[in-house]
Amino acid sequence: MLKIVISLIKKLIHLINARKINFLGNKSIVHCIIEKRHKSSQIMIGQNCLINGRLVTEASKSHIEIKENVFIGGKTILDCLNKIEIEENVLVSYECIIADHDSHSVKVDERKNDLERFKKNQMRWSDVANQPIKICKNAWIGTRSIILKGVTIGEGAIVAAGSVVTKDVPPYTLVAGNPAIVKKKLN
Ligand SMILES: CC(C)(COP(=O)(O)OP(=O)(O)OC[C@H]1O[C@@H](n2cnc3c(N)ncnc32)[C@H](O)[C@@H]1OP(=O)(O)O)[C@@H](O)C(=O)NCCC(=O)NCCS
Repeated sequence: MLKIVISLIKKLIHLINARKINFLGNKSIVHCIIEKRHKSSQIMIGQNCLINGRLVTEASKSHIEIKENVFIGGKTILDCLNKIEIEENVLVSYECIIADHDSHSVKVDERKNDLERFKKNQMRWSDVANQPIKICKNAWIGTRSIILKGVTIGEGAIVAAGSVVTKDVPPYTLVAGNPAIVKKKLN
């Protein structure tokens, strides 16, 4: 009985989410929380994906694009102001953070009123540094990793658990640590 109830709740979440997504491919399941903070922002999900965690779009220009066969683990957050692109066959483990912006300015004067603005949904995003993130096909992002603005993770690369990725990761390399550095080449 409990299994049936859980399965019905999951189906309901999927149906509610599907209405918020601009494109949803066949056989994709979206059990995540979707917070579109601006209705003109875009979320596109290709076919055959399983998306858990939380997808957040902050502004009208925010664009999350996930290609086919992508897995996003539970409690992972994609926080998008600019663009977050995840290519096909990427695995993102649980409890990761992928954020293409810094949330606040590094200058005190520019961030001191952020709380008030945020409460009114009037954040001044022009003061916040941001750059697109791209995770190329067949990459694997280990649990509790953090990927910061402007980073491209190369094709087939692995980000080890708990890494903080601040710079581009070359294709077919394993990176680890904070800041993440190349530990070995993969074939
Ligand atoms: C990425 C991972 C699979 C790599 O395994 P591996 O190929 O056996 O890697 P190695 O053990 O040869 O490690 C290579 C180097 O990276 C280091 N390293 C590996 N994982 C690391 C981590 N999470 N943090 C810091 N350093 C790490 C190793 O200490 C070693 O460093 P050294 O060459 O200086 O001695 C593994 O470390 C990992 O992170 N596993 C967890 C994956 C995960 O998140 N699973 C959740 C479900 S998707």
